[in-house]
Amino acid sequence: MKKTAKIIILISGRGSNMESLIKSSKETDSPFEIIEVISNKSNALGLEKAKNFGISTLIIESKGKSQKDFENELKSAILAKSPDYICLAGFMKLLSADFLSGLENKVINIHPSLLPKHKGLNAQKQALEAGDKESGCTVHFVTAQMDGGEIILQKKVPIIKGDTEDSLSQRILGQEHLAYSESLRKIIAKNS
Ligand code: GRF
Repeated sequence: MKKTAKIIILISGRGSNMESLIKSSKETDSPFEIIEVISNKSNALGLEKAKNFGISTLIIESKGKSQKDFENELKSAILAKSPDYICLAGFMKLLSADFLSGLENKVINIHPSLLPKHKGLNAQKQALEAGDKESGCTVHFVTAQMDGGEIILQKKVPIIKGDTEDSLSQRILGQEHLAYSESLRKIIAKNS
């Protein structure tokens, strides 16, 4: 029987990408299952959504802890579950080389720009301010270089005259929700 890849999702906020991954994992032909959602914020809206889908959730507060202590706690919790992949979905903490050691090609992120353009925060605003004609999203492996790891998949959207940060973000988000599960399917197929 074909093995189902085990996924842990890390969130910090509303969790719309998390939700689309959970929905995709429930499709009958899905090659992956979500085994846990971990948030570094106790008030992340995504936690409630995950619970409503019957997914196990865990809060590991980052506030008030050193990066080292937070990462040690997070890594132990992750390793205890032996996931195949760890998907960052609006997870607002940078992960150090120490954390990523031993997890190479296992940690994946989604970013709302066509990397390598517009790394970091407010990527949609950066695209508008640069006068770009198109934008989109990128799913990539995570390395200690922010938004710098190998690209798995990108989806493009046009930038339309009169776009605001909000309208562009919404257009990109629609593609993010397709891109994340498509990327997982792609890497799982490649590695199995
Ligand atoms: C998304 O735009 C994602 O690309 C970025 O943070 C946002 C998270 O949104 N990394 P959500 O929490 O998945 O709704």
